[in-house]
Amino acid sequence: MSNRTFTMIKPDAVRGGNIGNILQMINAAGFKIVAMKYTKLSLEQAGKFYEVHNARPFYGELTEFMSGGPIVAAILEKENAVADFRKLIGATNPAQAEEGTIRKKYAASVGENAVHGSDSDENAKIEGDFFFNGLERP
Ligand code: CMP
Repeated sequence: MSNRTFTMIKPDAVRGGNIGNILQMINAAGFKIVAMKYTKLSLEQAGKFYEVHNARPFYGELTEFMSGGPIVAAILEKENAVADFRKLIGATNPAQAEEGTIRKKYAASVGENAVHGSDSDENAKIEGDFFFNGLERP
């Protein structure tokens, strides 16, 4: 079991002025931020990041949304990071997210759902490597 996961604060949450609130929830839940950057993806980069979903009907909508404004990318550290972070963010569809989760508080829809969280240790590593080189990821 790895102790790291990867997250993005998505364009809807950045636009809504919720970077600080979301980082506070992440810290309060016991995650340490070990790498972080504010950046904007091109359509091509968003397409590459979400390549596993390229056959899904929502792929175009997803990549356009994710390249439509700045995001915050971060690597987080905590014991059992992947599973615990997915608990903290709540269900992909905010209508099904539990009280007290980030998506329940800040997400508007299944497409514009405020945050991303890796779904496995393997993907956490791949996704962290997508955004951060060795120097940026102590
Ligand atoms: P994320 O955890 O970033 O990983 C894949 C994303 O696809 C997911 O969050 C959602 O934002 C998005 N997604 C999943 N299902 C749909 C859908 N039906 N319509 C639009 N976007 C979706």
